[in-house]
Amino acid sequence: MGATLGLGNGFLHIKDLQKLFALRGGFIDSLLGRTQSVVRAVDGVDLTVSPGEILGLVGESGSGKTTLGRLVAMLDRPTSGSIEFRERDIAQLSRAEVWQLRRDIQMIFQNPYESVDPRYTIAGWLAEPLRLLRITSASEYRDRILEVLSQVELRPAESFLDRYPHELSGGQRQRVCIARAAIVKPKLMIADEPVSMLDVSVRSGLMKLMLDMRNELGMAFIYITHDLAVARYMSDRIAVMYLGKIVELGPVDEVIEKPAHPYTKILMSAVPEPRPGRSRRRANLKGEAASIKEIPGGCRFHPRCPMVQPKCEEEEPPFVTVDKDRESACHFSAQLLNGAM
Ligand SMILES: Nc1ncnc2c1ncn2[C@@H]1O[C@H](COP(=O)(O)OP(=O)(O)OP(=O)(O)O)[C@@H](O)[C@H]1O
Ligand SMILES: [Mg+2]
Repeated sequence: MGATLGLGNGFLHIKDLQKLFALRGGFIDSLLGRTQSVVRAVDGVDLTVSPGEILGLVGESGSGKTTLGRLVAMLDRPTSGSIEFRERDIAQLSRAEVWQLRRDIQMIFQNPYESVDPRYTIAGWLAEPLRLLRITSASEYRDRILEVLSQVELRPAESFLDRYPHELSGGQRQRVCIARAAIVKPKLMIADEPVSMLDVSVRSGLMKLMLDMRNELGMAFIYITHDLAVARYMSDRIAVMYLGKIVELGPVDEVIEKPAHPYTKILMSAVPEPRPGRSRRRANLKGEAASIKEIPGGCRFHPRCPMVQPKCEEEEPPFVTVDKDRESACHFSAQLLNGAM
């Protein structure tokens, strides 16, 4: 198991986390006595997040980013491993305890059209978490709702109270979703591709809003994106995920400028400039992403790796510290970092 950064800060500390999904058809297979196939969506993740930090989580489609986010947001239960949040393992909590912790960890989803209930007015929609989580007395709902609407820059706040979601643009809806997550004053937000479905013209405003929330309210974020330029703009550190595992972790500029894992290096070569929404060049990766159903033996990246050596087919590289504040899971990280490969 890899050493993890910031050990002992007591905020978010994920250890050897796994989430397996049984594949459809498993029931018939089990009737026929066949072994069930499973999807190893999250397959042994070690990760620490500090208070007020923005951790960018990147990786190709299907690498397990959303699954990891949902586990931390307590929307799914892990198969094994632990998620310690403020020194309690949230994977072990009862339903009632999970409910209490929802004040502290909130999630923002990709699609603001699906996430906002069309039957509610904005005020009604924003009041719901206050009521469900018993945050404030009903007499204070209005003030708190107005406050959070101003925070997400929906102004004048009063003019939004009685409006319905269909009257709002996509960007405004996503601001309402951020407001609904923020209204309970969480300490950690999981933002899952929160701008990727929105018009390019409103994306940077929303990203800036989330950066301001971190700076002014001190909340930490796990910011999920497959756009490396976005990750660079948003994050303090970046975690690169490949087939259910984190293969590289470190300060965002260092990782991008000097990757310690060949997968990161290839992903980075597709980013032309550190500006959000501009990474249109394709990564120069050979082959399709290996299937998460059949994770290759040895290093899981070896069939696509341009630097592959015989050792990589046999031995899974551990996720270890490779430099100050840097971790990577490659047998040849040292050579990559010193430019020998
Ligand atoms: N509820 C589920 N049941 C079965 N398989 C699932 C389930 N949720 C996710 N998976 C599988 O787990 C793997 C990881 O999925 P996940 O959605 O976490 O990836 P992702 O990195 O978020 O991808 P994307 O960038 O496309 O959003 C995929 O192979 C996916 O099909
Ligand atoms: Mg996803």
